[in-house]
Amino acid sequence: MKRFIVTGGYGFIGSNLVRLLLKKKYKVLNIDNFSYSAQKYNLRGISNKNYIFKKVDINNRNKLRKILKNFKPHGIFNLAADTHVDRSIDDSSNFIKNNILGVFNLLEALKSVKNKIKLIHVSTDEVYGDIKGSKRSNEKHTYDPSSPYSASKASSDHLVLSYVKTYKLNAVITNCSNNYGPRQFPEKIIPKMIFNVIKNKPLPIYSKGKNSREWIYVDDHCEALISLFFKGKKGEKYNIGSGFNCSNLYLVKSILKKFKKSKIKIGSKVKIKFVKDRPGHDLRYALDSKKLIRTINWKPKIAFEKGIEKTVEWYIKNPEFFRRISKKLFNKRLGVL
Ligand SMILES: NC(=O)c1ccc[n+]([C@@H]2O[C@H](COP(=O)([O-])OP(=O)(O)OC[C@H]3O[C@@H](n4cnc5c(N)ncnc54)[C@H](O)[C@@H]3O)[C@@H](O)[C@H]2O)c1
Repeated sequence: MKRFIVTGGYGFIGSNLVRLLLKKKYKVLNIDNFSYSAQKYNLRGISNKNYIFKKVDINNRNKLRKILKNFKPHGIFNLAADTHVDRSIDDSSNFIKNNILGVFNLLEALKSVKNKIKLIHVSTDEVYGDIKGSKRSNEKHTYDPSSPYSASKASSDHLVLSYVKTYKLNAVITNCSNNYGPRQFPEKIIPKMIFNVIKNKPLPIYSKGKNSREWIYVDDHCEALISLFFKGKKGEKYNIGSGFNCSNLYLVKSILKKFKKSKIKIGSKVKIKFVKDRPGHDLRYALDSKKLIRTINWKPKIAFEKGIEKTVEWYIKNPEFFRRISKKLFNKRLGVL
């Protein structure tokens, strides 16, 4: 039976990945330092002899080394990171610490144990920066990050590739587009809008809502990650995107439509409110994912319309998810200078 470590397994994508790996009958060790975006609720109901959790920071190289020696994983999915662009604008120190130094320490731990462990380093489409017109960035596109968040992820990608070249580490880098689905921390646009509709609050959108993002349902991303553990080539980068782009305005209107369909009463204060843009806000990200499709014969299973419906339904059916998160953590608008 294959054994995997998932770092950041209490976060949004990490918890969905842990669930999928367990469903596929793999053994999973979740390493998370339990920062603000980690949610116990995300792995609620998991009682599985194949699942272990260790509260560890990926900066703790000695602990990581011990874990690698004892658990002997076949693969590591590295998702541990600080992830909210707006927070990185307010203060980037945690991004440098967790996304750059954390990856450095993880790589050093991997270097020190001689086991043949494959690292799947999970990165983002934001490293490519603003993609103009109707172009899509492939894996050879220049890195041109605009925020401290995307710069920290870009740095970690470079570090990983350098360890492959210099120390022959077995690693693959994935650059995925915006994920959506259950268990996402409600500072991010989709759960935030859903929360505001439920709470009868206005729906703040940056500028005029024209910023375009490529949206992928989280399970489709997780399936691709697992396939890349088996089929991804050492030292290669793979974009993971659905090919579906839409503007933030379209996205928020789609959420509202799903609420209307669900017959939930929409309060009078639920109105789109355009707010001052955040600094360095890229207009558009769009990936060319042909290499992934060629390599793992993958295509997303959940189309946007279906995915957004499933997502809205999940948050409506899981009010406890929002209740457990302190107001302080997600009500304030961040990213304003
Ligand atoms: N959410 C997206 O749309 C998206 C898109 C592309 C790539 N990614 C990448 O996927 C990964 C996961 O993103 P997410 O949206 O699930 O984030 P998230 O914020 O929901 O979860 C991050 C998790 O990492 C943990 N963590 C942070 N620093 C840590 C450290 N030093 N040691 C151990 N654990 C630590 C947190 O406690 C949290 O549980 C990130 O690397 C992110 O850059 C996310």
